[in-house]
Amino acid sequence: MPGVWQQPLPGIYSEHSEAELRVRIGDAKAKLKGRLVILGHHYQQDGIIEFADFRGDSFELSRRAAEQKGIEYVVFCGVHFMAESADVLTDEDVKVILPDLGAGCSMADMASLDQTEECWAQLEQACGGQRVVPITYVNSSAAIKAFVGKHGGAVCTSSNCRNVLEWALQQGSGERVQGSGKPKVLFLPDQHLGRNTAYGMGWPLESMVLWDPTRQMGGNMEEEVVRAQFVLWKGHCSVHGLFRPEHVDEVRVKWPKMKVIVHPECNWEVVQKADMAGSTAYIVKTVEAAAAGSEWAIATEVHLVNRLRQEHPEQKIIVLSECQCLCTTMYRIDLPHLCWVMENLVAGHVVNQIKVDSETRKWATVALQRMLEIKGTGAVVTREPVGGATKG
Ligand code: 13P
Ligand code: SF4
Repeated sequence: MPGVWQQPLPGIYSEHSEAELRVRIGDAKAKLKGRLVILGHHYQQDGIIEFADFRGDSFELSRRAAEQKGIEYVVFCGVHFMAESADVLTDEDVKVILPDLGAGCSMADMASLDQTEECWAQLEQACGGQRVVPITYVNSSAAIKAFVGKHGGAVCTSSNCRNVLEWALQQGSGERVQGSGKPKVLFLPDQHLGRNTAYGMGWPLESMVLWDPTRQMGGNMEEEVVRAQFVLWKGHCSVHGLFRPEHVDEVRVKWPKMKVIVHPECNWEVVQKADMAGSTAYIVKTVEAAAAGSEWAIATEVHLVNRLRQEHPEQKIIVLSECQCLCTTMYRIDLPHLCWVMENLVAGHVVNQIKVDSETRKWATVALQRMLEIKGTGAVVTREPVGGATKG
């Protein structure tokens, strides 16, 4: 997220009590009625979610952004890459606002355009006429999304990753990977989502290589890259990376009836030990559909897990690890920042606009539209049946 800094808020916003801020945001929202939509990601604080017109995972919020017509502003309560996607997917004249410019995503920052172009050049040189389809997780910059759009690839979210990979493996023309007869996939920037999804589709770990962008040939032998079906970028989520296989072992001992459900950004070893793995939306749907008395250890961001616990007091819900995995950048969106951007809009000032340049927008649109067209279930691994845990 180069070159963007959050200016300090006028002191008045930190002086207001939470109750005052809520009243002021409510007033500003009422004044902007019909002109503004507020989108809130599942990992946001409860106080923010209260003001969201739509809450969802990144797939759902991209869909919501794309369907908005006749409004002037989208206030995106999430992180920078999500606001960029919303800017690409809304009409040109809609202004997308991120309440705190410091709300980035460390995973998205692990793949730069320069590194991606360098990787592509090395792949082309090593793999000759082999067809390579680039796929990027939505947690990436608009520049990377434009790169994959330009090179015949697509964006995926954790909700449709499996189906996007199926799509990629069916792309025509060019030489195939020997043995499989399928094109090679370059998967950016989350190695874990790529590995967990491909493995869940039946591809062995040996069909994948890890690409370290700081090393020549990604740190691999050239023949290994030529043979590989999947080239996985060496990126990860520092929040989901906090969940460890031993946390699953501890739950198994302490609460033998408890089911473990994890986000596919977790390490492969954690996913292998879990009962189920799937996107944020999949986790929400699974818990919502579960019978009273169900017990869940959930490996994802703590705000979502706490909200599920509050909304389902009839179930026992814990975070898989006691580390209370918190996305500190999502957490930067708070009531003072929301109040500040909203009151500026009421006064006719657009602050913290996220704007994608027109060339990037053109190609990122191609990749994001492919993402929206390919639906998914969000499931990466399910070791069902989950004895009596789901409603009839
Ligand atoms: P979702 O695609 O599940 O919304 O995840 C976004 C994200 O940042 C998870 O860490
Ligand atoms: Fe990025 Fe991880 Fe935070 Fe999601 S939870 S926004 S992947 S750092």
